[in-house]
Amino acid sequence: MPVTQIPKTYRVKSFGCQMNVYDGDRMAELLAEQGISPAPEGEDADLVVLNTCHIREKAAEKVYSDIGRLRREDGSSPLIAVAGCVAQAEGEEIMARAPSVKMVVGPQAYHRLPEMLREASAGKRVTDTDMPAETKFGALPRRRRSGPTAFLTVQEGCDKFCTYCVVPYTRGAEVSRPHGDLIDEAKRLVESGAREITLLGQNVNAWTGENAKGQTIGLDGLIRELAGIPELARIRYTTSHPNDMTDGLIAAHGEIAKLMPFLHLPVQAGNDRVLKAMNRSHTVDSYLRILEQVRTMRPDIALSGDFIVGFPGETDAEFEDTLKLVDAVGYAQCFSFKYSPRPGTPAATMEDQIAASVMDERLQRLQAALNRDQLAFNTASVGKTCDVLVERKGKHPGQWLGKSPWLQSVHFTGEVQAGDLVRVELLEAGPNSISARLLETVTA
Ligand code: 5AD
Ligand code: SF4
Repeated sequence: MPVTQIPKTYRVKSFGCQMNVYDGDRMAELLAEQGISPAPEGEDADLVVLNTCHIREKAAEKVYSDIGRLRREDGSSPLIAVAGCVAQAEGEEIMARAPSVKMVVGPQAYHRLPEMLREASAGKRVTDTDMPAETKFGALPRRRRSGPTAFLTVQEGCDKFCTYCVVPYTRGAEVSRPHGDLIDEAKRLVESGAREITLLGQNVNAWTGENAKGQTIGLDGLIRELAGIPELARIRYTTSHPNDMTDGLIAAHGEIAKLMPFLHLPVQAGNDRVLKAMNRSHTVDSYLRILEQVRTMRPDIALSGDFIVGFPGETDAEFEDTLKLVDAVGYAQCFSFKYSPRPGTPAATMEDQIAASVMDERLQRLQAALNRDQLAFNTASVGKTCDVLVERKGKHPGQWLGKSPWLQSVHFTGEVQAGDLVRVELLEAGPNSISARLLETVTA
């Protein structure tokens, strides 16, 4: 494609967290508003947006190899935009090293994409990694259609500065989207088909806003209000920080039926010295106390977390403490990672970086324990009757897939449609899914 014309087709490739998926969808809508169509499956796009993640591992190298792979047989490339957190952190270097990249768009600058595209189509190379105080959200287009489950970003950024983490640098300070905008967007999502909304934020439970009466409310207040939308069946939220688990939010788990019994509350490590070095500002005990309070409110709650093994200086005994914590909690599912030094973060220059082989072994042991617990959690669900929100067809004829209240993947056969809320009996558990028998449709 000559660079003097506006592209006709686009593809957005999002990596990393759900907030990136949300941003990627918004960018796609923005491009569609400019009259650009999604490229058909398997066909080249005129414009490719790489919506990158910088949280772990060789993020930048991955971007360069993705850029290389976009080169066509005749040596030409599509118009490439690098967006997301790698764009924010390493935009200048990307521009210098990869001539085929014409646009670098930071996570707070997406709304400028159409303008940047016009400039890039005229042959310029443009970068916008500003972090304006006003958020991009107001400028993004209206949502048009939605599947049964939808994401809604309510909060972005992080002020916690865990010593290993790049997010406070790439996503900037904590910003809450205004209450009215969120209620409007949630209503539009529901009108366009969403029956479950997952509220997203790097520290989603740090969300705060002013309701229509001018009262300051927290995430629990927002959830309470959203629960009043009649056609909305389910509400979830992720990711939370232990320090922002307010009494109100804990109580909401026992009081709001539409709030699903699932809590993703990262702890990262099971040893207080390591937590302190990570600047987590909670202890193992204070974390466990929160879980206990939530369990009191909602005894069937499914718990989830994030773990890092091999933080600089972590001894064998300190790692064993992580395994002890896992045993004590009994998680339903978790994410676990090897520590990855992120340039510019305090931990990257700490002494006693842990050898890769030690990290490998620790990760294997931790994941074995987490997999064991995940299967145990699923197995304990067998025989229960529960609601499933039907999301899509499965691989086999007549098979449908959806999620239990505890975020387990459930499959069954029957006469249903995506978006139905159905009642099932859980029959047989595997590590990653559960088979079920359809009992009845609760709401079509
Ligand atoms: N190395 C490994 N894992 C990390 N995470 C964040 N930064 C790093 C890092 N430098 C993990 C944390 C966080 C999740 C989103 O990613 O567990 O909760
Ligand atoms: Fe990163 Fe810590 Fe903020 Fe989570 S709370 S985004 S791990 S700095």
